[in-house]
Parts: sequence; structure tokens; C-alpha cells
Amino acid sequence: MTPALTVPAWTVLGVETSCDETAASVVRLSGDGVVDVLSSVVASQIARHAPYGGVVPEVAARAHVEIIDDIIGQAMAEANLAFGALDGVAATAGPGLVGGVMVGLSAGKAIALARGLPLIAVNHLEGHAVSVRLAARAPYPFLLLLASGGHCQLLAVEGVGAVQRLGTTIDDAAGEAFDKIASSLGLPYPGGPELERLAAHGRAERFALPRALMGRAGCDFSFSGLKTAAARLAAAEVLTEQDRADLAASAQGAIATQLADRARRAMTQYVESRAGVERLFVVAGGVAANGAVRKALEQAAQAQAFAFLAPPLKYCTDNAAMIALAGAERLAAGFRDSLDAPARPRWPLDAAAALAHPIHTPGRKGAKA
Ligand code: KG4
Ligand code: ZN
Repeated sequence: MTPALTVPAWTVLGVETSCDETAASVVRLSGDGVVDVLSSVVASQIARHAPYGGVVPEVAARAHVEIIDDIIGQAMAEANLAFGALDGVAATAGPGLVGGVMVGLSAGKAIALARGLPLIAVNHLEGHAVSVRLAARAPYPFLLLLASGGHCQLLAVEGVGAVQRLGTTIDDAAGEAFDKIASSLGLPYPGGPELERLAAHGRAERFALPRALMGRAGCDFSFSGLKTAAARLAAAEVLTEQDRADLAASAQGAIATQLADRARRAMTQYVESRAGVERLFVVAGGVAANGAVRKALEQAAQAQAFAFLAPPLKYCTDNAAMIALAGAERLAAGFRDSLDAPARPRWPLDAAAALAHPIHTPGRKGAKA
């Protein structure tokens, strides 16, 4: 009798601590591409940072230290696995707030060393890039818009660890624009989801706000003019509740339109330089949780005959399942990192593009992009 063929599988613990979420997850990737999220635990620090109106790096690092062991323990318990059942440990090694990154990376290294498991030092952006594959079949290659609090980039994702950057922001990230406009409207941190709630009762056509670079060549973004214009309007007069909702809706509409315009350009560029490529457009990152943004991008994709995919909301914002999956894909492809892998505050996914077109701005994380 011929023995049944078994499909290889990689079961990986992922750890994420690069910003204000302490997260751990166990993901199993089978050789036939099936992904099982066995657990995904995310502890948000929002309440600790809200009084300051943004993430305070030192507070974040301390909060990660306090709970990282418990969060990893919970992820293993929910997956119903012992450490001996793992094939590897993946931890975010950057880019991000380096104090926090060091906490999760050190925890990952300790487990890898104690259990004799391979370590995979994962780029947080690569995690967002694969996040869509946690819940859908999204074969490589695909075109990705990564829009989060620290990043706004259009990327051709060719395969595991192979990414080409088509465009990036020259000032703020899209999530940063959402957060700052929300803050000028007096909304609490993090402003993106709050602004979306306020915008639900507003009229997007009420205020004509600037839409930078629209129709221009290239796939870069700019949001600082929009942010300043919205802040000026918010400060200029006493706003009624309806005025505030209208301003929120107008700002959200301007961001969504701009993202869709740049994405449309990237789609054209992407197919022009890749004869016969599968037309798949993916959006990921916290801003992908925004309904108006998703709708605008879906329409842009439809107009360019691209299929459109976005991760479920829980995998748009920071989580460790995406880090575990990025780690599992790397492990399956034969990548390993050594235990002295450094924590990196800056770590561009496409190093060649970042070198050729360095972007230096005084923005929160501008140079990181
Ligand atoms: O991916 P993420 O959790 O963290 C980073 O890697 O930056 O993204 C967080 C960003 C924040 O700027 C947040 O305001 C924004 O995503 N965000 C939203 C929404 N949900 C999260 N922006 C607009 N609408 C939302 N519903
Ligand atoms: Zn993120």
C-alpha cells in the first residue's frame, strides 16, 4: 500500500510590538497554500496614550514589557499548542518605535533560543503586505496599496520578500492625515475611526479641500496641504455639529479620492511593465478599515479591470497573525535569521527605491517611508 502523501506545514508563532499594540498569534501555513489562524491576540494600549494625543514611545515600550509574556502565553493557549509544536518564531524587527520593537524581538529570540527553533526577523510592512492572505487566496504577484499611520506606499508584491516600490508619500502618511485632521476637530486619538464615524452624518461636497498631485505623473502621495487646509477651517470659526460632520466627510472624501487617483496610475504602470500579469489590487494597513477609502479603491480597480481584495477589518490594523504568516512564508522559502538580528527603526521594503529616491521630511515617520 502506498503511504498517503502528507502536505508539509509550517506552524509559526508571531510577535508584534512595533507601535501601540502588543500582539501574538499562531498561524499554520500548509505547503498547498492553505492558511489557518490558530490564534490572534491583540492588546491595545490606546487608553495609555490617549491623554497625550498620540503614541508616547517610552510609555509604549514599558507597556509592551509588562504584558508580552502573558499575550504570548494566551496565543499559545488559544492555539492549544505547546512550544514544542512550533516550527519557528517570527517577530517584527522594524520599522517602528525601536524600544517597542526590541521588546517583541527579544521575546521571540528568547523562545527561539530556548526551544532550538529558527527565528525569522519580519519587516512590519511585509506583514501588512501578506495580511490579505490570512483570509483569502491572493496569489503573487499583486499590486498593493499599504496605507497606515506611518506609511503610504504603492508596492508591486512579486513574491516572498520581493517587493518593488512604485510610489510613496512625500510628506505625511494617509493615517497620519486622518489622525491630525481628526485632532483639529477635537476628536480623541486615534482619530481615523472617530473621523469616519463623524463623517457618516456629513456632506463630502460641502468643503472644497486640496487634492495634491491629482492627475500628475508618478504614483507619489502628498497630504500636508489637505491637512493644513482642514485644520485652518476647523480653527477659523465656531463650527456647528453639522459643520464638523461636513468637514470630516469632505476631508475623508479628499483622502479617498487622492488614494484612488494614485492607485489608478499605479495600476496602469503595473500592467504596462508586466506583460500578461494577473490584475489583482490589494489594500492593507489601518486606513484600509475606512469604508469610503475601500469604496473609492474598489471603483478604481473595477475601472481598470483589476480584481479587488482587502483583508477583514481585524487584519487591517496592527496584529501578529500577519507577522506569523510573513514568517511562515519566509520559513517555507528557506529564509532564517540569526539571533543577533537587529531591531531597526527604519527598514524600507524596497531598499533600492528608498536609496534612489530618499524622502526626508520633518513628518512623524516621513523618512521611514
Ligand atoms: O496599520 P496600523 O494599525 O498601524 C500602523 O502601522 O501605522 O494603522 C493605524 C492608522 C491610524 O492612523 C488610524 O487612525 C488609521 O490607521 N485608521 C483609520 C481607520 N481605522 C484605523 N483611518 C481611517 N478610517 C478608519 N476606519
Ligand atoms: Zn502597521
